[in-house]
Amino acid sequence: MKAIFPGSFDPATLGHLDIINRGAKLFDCLIVAILTNIAKKPLFSADERLFILQQETAHISNVEIVSFNGLLLVELAKNLDAQYILRGIRTESDCNYELAMAQANQKLNPHIETIFMASNPQNAYMSASLLKEIATVGYPTFDDSALDNWVSANVKTLLKNKFC
Ligand code: PNS
Repeated sequence: MKAIFPGSFDPATLGHLDIINRGAKLFDCLIVAILTNIAKKPLFSADERLFILQQETAHISNVEIVSFNGLLLVELAKNLDAQYILRGIRTESDCNYELAMAQANQKLNPHIETIFMASNPQNAYMSASLLKEIATVGYPTFDDSALDNWVSANVKTLLKNKFC
């Protein structure tokens, strides 16, 4: 069984990595796909996000990272022969957005099933958007030790380099 875990991953948080670690145990192959969300303007380039995810998942043998622009998620899933789309749900407020996306994808390709995985409760508050807001406003002056709850040490350094 092959699944695709799509997202913006701008940048990959510990919440994303938790879903990747747990998802890799459910599927023979998990493809993490960096895709375009037209509602978001990324801080990290697609190549930077690819590099981060490759570094952070190098220890998981059945995880592969890809990056595509200008391709629908269901088209990519079909091209890669993935039967499942995996998405994490953190809070109730994620549900409307995730359900709408899953149902739209179902209309586009009824052969691909979306599977939701509940986030670890300790990651429920974690969002890359909030992280970027804190970093954008907080650097260079704030004590960034709290960011260790959000991202790995490598990602924190890359984030800091964007602002300092
Ligand atoms: O991490 P995000 O920003 O919540 O991920 C959203 C993403 C990238 C999965 C979504 O925007 C997406 O699937 N983009 C690819 C284009 C597409 O297929 N859009 C229709 C989704 S119903």
